[in-house]
Amino acid sequence: MSHETETPSTLLKLDDYRVGFRTERGLAKAVDGVSYELNSGKTLAIVGESGSGKTVLNRGIMGLLGSNINESGSVKFQGEELVNTNRQKFWGKKMAMIFQDPMTSLNPVMKVGKQVSEPLRLHQGMSRKEARHRTVELFTLVGIPEPSQRFDEYPHQLSGGMRQRVMISIALAIEPDLLIADEPTTSLDVTVQKYILDLLVEVQKESNMAMTIITHDLGVARGRADEILVMYGGRVMEHAPAETLFNEMAHPYTSALLSSIPKLDDPKHTRLTPIEGFPPDIVDGPDGCKFAARCQYAQENCLSELPDTTVKGDHSYACFYPIGTDEGAKAFASNAERGHTAAGLKIRAKEEVI
Ligand SMILES: Nc1ncnc2c1ncn2[C@@H]1O[C@H](COP(=O)(O)OP(=O)(O)OP(=O)(O)O)[C@@H](O)[C@H]1O
Ligand SMILES: [Mg+2]
Repeated sequence: MSHETETPSTLLKLDDYRVGFRTERGLAKAVDGVSYELNSGKTLAIVGESGSGKTVLNRGIMGLLGSNINESGSVKFQGEELVNTNRQKFWGKKMAMIFQDPMTSLNPVMKVGKQVSEPLRLHQGMSRKEARHRTVELFTLVGIPEPSQRFDEYPHQLSGGMRQRVMISIALAIEPDLLIADEPTTSLDVTVQKYILDLLVEVQKESNMAMTIITHDLGVARGRADEILVMYGGRVMEHAPAETLFNEMAHPYTSALLSSIPKLDDPKHTRLTPIEGFPPDIVDGPDGCKFAARCQYAQENCLSELPDTTVKGDHSYACFYPIGTDEGAKAFASNAERGHTAAGLKIRAKEEVI
């Protein structure tokens, strides 16, 4: 979504942001033209299947992808252009990231307590003693048992779940302006997940921090996020306030994603409908809509033309035949009639599944 003028609370603004990896086969376009804005104090959830580009997008924003990439478009953070610059000066107090795999992000040769207390001393001017005290407090808060003893241990001495809690303590300690949490709770059990997300939201309220939560779980996205951005093949398929996305879902990919995810109130053993087929090749991808090959609504033009983004207030989507429109209904009906889509995908149901 793009607005002409930047409001003072716009913290992050992406415009046609692209990241490609140079590979032997050619450029792997992991992020392929992403635009959105995030305001201070808001939570954005980014959802999408595995490989849709969620992690690369956010590591790219942070400047954590190394040098073997092609980066283009614009990423403005607090008004400053980040693309093709070194973002190191922003790490810590300005932006921080909780990683999918906490082992790769904690320093293996530094005691975990020090990894939390150092930023406290550095950014909040605490004494060594105060920082240690606060760290033990934070460890207690995130549910690390025997926190004073843990302080002096190394990452390899901790379980995956405990390491992730250490990462979360670091984020809670520094209260950055932007916190990016990549699947922050996958190695934690469900009650702990809920508790940790509540904690993050609490910190956010106090500090006006903006948060991006990357998740597979649309339920988490709906419960915690102000806005949801749906990614596929490195592109934004749909972006809307959380409730709008659920109530006025426009993109067939969003709908397919929703039906492929278990819901809390589903009876046990409910059969989910996995999205048939595979994500697109990102080196030599399709010309048209990236989802066309797997989409029940696909028509000829979806295979050859990339749909523009339709913007309706704070709801935007990139689709020629959106759900809930006459064009969408006609496209689905004609595919159902002939039994397959323009891409040859068989249609089993005679009625739209939304
Ligand atoms: N270093 C790399 N070189 C080449 N391709 C890469 C590299 N890192 C990631 N990719 C590719 O970029 C695409 C996006 O990957 P990414 O890790 O962002 O997906 P994701 O949405 O975070 O998936 P998941 O939900 O599994 O974490 C994938 O096709 C992946 O294979
Ligand atoms: Mg990822």
